[in-house]
Amino acid sequence: MRTLECKGAQGRQSRIRIASGLCSDFADRLSECCAERRPFVLIDQEVARAHPQLLPEGLASLELAAGESCKTLATAEKLLSTMAREGLERSAVLVVIGGGSLGDLGGLVASLYLRGIDLIQVPTSLLAMVDSSVGGKTAINLPEGKNLAGSFWPAREVLIDCNLLASLSQREFRSGLGEVLKMAIGLSDDLFSLLEKASPSLDDGDLLAEIIAQALAAKIRIVEEDPTESGSRRLLNLGHSLGHALECASDFSLPHGEAVVQGIFFALRVAEGFSAINAENAADIRSLLQRYAYSESQLPDLEELRGYMLRDKKMLGGQLAAVLPTGRGKSQVQLMSLDEFIARGPA
Ligand SMILES: NC(=O)c1ccc[n+]([C@@H]2O[C@H](COP(=O)([O-])OP(=O)(O)OC[C@H]3O[C@@H](n4cnc5c(N)ncnc54)[C@H](O)[C@@H]3O)[C@@H](O)[C@H]2O)c1
Repeated sequence: MRTLECKGAQGRQSRIRIASGLCSDFADRLSECCAERRPFVLIDQEVARAHPQLLPEGLASLELAAGESCKTLATAEKLLSTMAREGLERSAVLVVIGGGSLGDLGGLVASLYLRGIDLIQVPTSLLAMVDSSVGGKTAINLPEGKNLAGSFWPAREVLIDCNLLASLSQREFRSGLGEVLKMAIGLSDDLFSLLEKASPSLDDGDLLAEIIAQALAAKIRIVEEDPTESGSRRLLNLGHSLGHALECASDFSLPHGEAVVQGIFFALRVAEGFSAINAENAADIRSLLQRYAYSESQLPDLEELRGYMLRDKKMLGGQLAAVLPTGRGKSQVQLMSLDEFIARGPA
């Protein structure tokens, strides 16, 4: 078992445990984490079907369909009302079992219910294991754009069991690898080198646990430096300026991690345009992405993407805080106009 700690926003401490089989006896695991406090489980309905042991009998719970469609004010209200009808008190714990979409929704609701109750995250997608379950960012979408309403509410506990990935589709696994590649390219030379040699697959629990631990260690370093994203934490947004716009333009049919990888290709060209990266490092990044069967795709209408990017949180005083890869495991934030960014990125 690997154990990591992360001190996030408002000084809230998260304990993160990573081990295959960590959730096989889930009722016992919950009793250990919650002690005398009452848990309420929010679970992805696909995950509940594939892993019935995660919903022990007698627990108050709500099953929801995952995806961007659950990250809405209406779903947040439904969850809050269900918890209120259950009579949950301030000592209750919200346990969120699912991928990043349910994690973002559940985290927000935990921060709102009775002005905030404790949260346990049990991430079940690779993306949620390497990224969204740690760091405390919560969000729902508005019709005007993605993740436009949210809070910082770090989980007290994050339980990562690689065995839960067995039921994940190859497409979602690949999407998760997109966020792993982001961490390697932007933040961790060690993870970059590991991914150059490794061939992670859904059934290789030991390798996945090592990759998850390295990706999270890189993320934790940044989150502890800047828990509320006013400086260096913006580096975690590598590939996200264009990535979020692509997700919106595809009406969220494009998985998040795939969109982020296209955003990394774009940001790499912008970095080359500003001579922020040398040719050798740029070639290493392209060959790492190609190793995971990613290639640059044709972009949809740039004017439409521009509209989505304008409403993005990464705009600062009319300028874009663009994250540019600058080497193996290195990146920097550079302020520029949206026009400059868009002009340099296309292949
Ligand atoms: N808060 C953060 O810091 C942060 C960081 C990165 C991404 N995100 C958010 O995370 C979301 C994407 O996360 P995601 O890719 O996990 O999406 P998701 O929660 O929609 O899950 C993707 C799909 O995988 C299925 N699934 C999940 N676990 C499964 C399992 N073990 N077996 C079978 N099916 C399973 C879900 O039902 C869903 O169909 C986006 O909304 C993104 O904005 C948040």
